[in-house]
Amino acid sequence: MSDYLWFEGVPLPGVGIEKKILEEISHKFVVRDEDTIILTYPKSGTNWLIEIVCLIHTKGNPKWIQSVPIWERSPWVETKIGYPILTNQEGPRLISSHLPFHLFPKSFFSSKAKMIYVIRNPRDVLVSGYFFFHKTNLVKNPGSLLEYFEWFLKGNVLFGSWFEHTRAWLSMRKRDNFLLLSYEDLKQDTRGTIEKICDFLGKKLEKDELDLVLKYSSFQFMKENKMSNFSTISEDLINNGLKLMRKGTTGDWKNHFTVAQAEAFDKVFQEKMIGFPPELFPWQ
Ligand code: A3P
Repeated sequence: MSDYLWFEGVPLPGVGIEKKILEEISHKFVVRDEDTIILTYPKSGTNWLIEIVCLIHTKGNPKWIQSVPIWERSPWVETKIGYPILTNQEGPRLISSHLPFHLFPKSFFSSKAKMIYVIRNPRDVLVSGYFFFHKTNLVKNPGSLLEYFEWFLKGNVLFGSWFEHTRAWLSMRKRDNFLLLSYEDLKQDTRGTIEKICDFLGKKLEKDELDLVLKYSSFQFMKENKMSNFSTISEDLINNGLKLMRKGTTGDWKNHFTVAQAEAFDKVFQEKMIGFPPELFPWQ
C-alpha cells in the first residue's frame, strides 16, 4: 500500500504521479483552445462522462471505446502515463483530471478550451470512494467506513477536500467554456444531459446516434467493456475484486451512514458550502 504524495498541501496518489510533472503541469502545460477537459473530484462519475464524450465524438460507434483503454482515450494530465501522451498529441485533445483548481494548468484559464465539471452528492462520493480505494494499492487504506468518513470530512483523502475542490471549481460556473453537470442529473435524465453535452461541444447527433451513445455508455455496457471497467489494471495496483462499476445509483449513502454521521455531514456541508445557491446541488 502506498502513502500519499503530498503536493502543496493536497494528498495525491503515491504511485503514477510525480512532483516534477505536477510542477511542470501548472506552469508549462499548454491547454489549447480546441481541447475538451473532463474535470471531477474522484468517484463522481468521471469514467461515465469520459465514455459519453468519446461516444459523442464517434457518433455512437463503439469501436473506439471497445479497442482503446479509457485512460488512453482521455489521458490524465497529472499522471506519468497521461502527461507525455497529451504533450505529444496533435489536434484537439480529450483531457481528464482530478486536480484541484490551484494545481491545474494555468494556461487553461486564459484559453477557450471547454471544461465539463461533474459534481455528485459528496455522501455518495464518500461511500463510492471507500469501497473503491480499499481495493487499491494507490492510497492509504481505510480500516473501516467510519475511519474513511472522518478522513473525508477533514480532506485527508485522495485529491483533498471535496468541499474545497468543489467550491473552487464552481467559481468558474458562469463562464461560457465551463459546463457544470451532476451525476444525479445524468442518472435522472441521461438523454437530456447528453444532449446538453452535445450542445456545449457543438456536436449535432441524429436520434439513432444518440440512442447508440446511450446504449454503449449504460452501466451494463460499461461494466462489460474491458477497455473501461478497469479489469485490465495491473495487479500490483489493485486487490482482487476491484470494481469501477459498483452500483451506479444515487443515495447509496443512506445504506451506510448512521443517523449521527448523516447529521454530522449535514452540518459540515452547510458550513463549507455557505453562499452557494442550494439549486446547484440537486441531491439536497
Ligand atoms: P458507485 O461506486 O456508487 O457505484 P468515477 O468514474 O469518478 O471513479 O466514479 C465511479 C462511480 O461512477 C461508481 O459509483 C460507478 O458505479 C459510477 N458509474 C460508472 N459508470 C457508470 C454508468 N455508466 N452509469 C452509472 N454510474 C456509473
